[in-house]
Amino acid sequence: MQKVTKAVFPVAGLGTRFLPATKASPKEMLNVVDKPLIQYAVEEAVAAGITDLIFVTGRNKRAIEDHFDKAYELETELEAKGKKALLDVVRNILPRNVSCAYIRQPEALGLGHAVACARPLVGDEPFAVILADDLIDAEVPVMRQMVDVYDSTQSSVIGVQEVPRSETGSYGIVVADGNSEGYPKLTGIVEKPKPEEAPSTLAVVGRYILSPRIFRHLAKAAPGKGGEIQLTDAIAALLEEERVLALPFTGTRYDCGSKLGYLQATLAYAARHAEIGADFRAYLQQFCETGKLP
Ligand code: G1P
Repeated sequence: MQKVTKAVFPVAGLGTRFLPATKASPKEMLNVVDKPLIQYAVEEAVAAGITDLIFVTGRNKRAIEDHFDKAYELETELEAKGKKALLDVVRNILPRNVSCAYIRQPEALGLGHAVACARPLVGDEPFAVILADDLIDAEVPVMRQMVDVYDSTQSSVIGVQEVPRSETGSYGIVVADGNSEGYPKLTGIVEKPKPEEAPSTLAVVGRYILSPRIFRHLAKAAPGKGGEIQLTDAIAALLEEERVLALPFTGTRYDCGSKLGYLQATLAYAARHAEIGADFRAYLQQFCETGKLP
């Protein structure tokens, strides 16, 4: 019986939708209230029992490595000033049993190519893939829900959610008309089909647990949609030889790769933030009622 202990975070993308904010700093370091997107993604992995974090990085991504590294100067200064609470925040970004590894994706050839770059670090084990710009708020973190499915089925699992038909062109769309051990079983998956061609409205939203056999298909994959090596195409090949399940998870997903989704996430997380939530809600209420700043 295999366990999922590794998660791959493809973070080499250029983040063009957020320019100029992402000109010199990675889009995964965009903040929702007081934490960068990549930290939410990492916390989700850690909550699922994952201990090996593998970041597939590119140029301009040093900030991610620094974020998960020890910050001696900052710690010394906070300690000297007696700022114990902040010191704990900085020191406890990662639990001690969790390790980080970084590997470069030399060229932005697509999500499938990014995942293939992680092969030497993943080896012959099942592994998770988490796309940090899909921020998912859930009582039970989504990757935890997915690892539970993996533990009981030993099958690849894809996190899915219904989307409006008009939006199928932004997602991998699955056909999951089979059923296996109580879960929808994939019989097809296609990358970003036009609404009139989409086989369903069940979309992949940035969470995967994949069998290591996916690497064989990625190695053979030809450029697909947009001329990129698509993870979706490799999953389509994988499901011809192995069972792949879909998990229509419980949770609210924010598309933080888009400005609107990012603002929606900021609003939702600020409104229930332990330190500023109550003040922010009062402010927002007054702003909505009067259209003016209090
Ligand atoms: C990627 C995948 C797509 C998936 C989406 C989820 O697309 O290729 O299948 O539905 O992530 O966010 P991207 O948004 O990176 O273009």
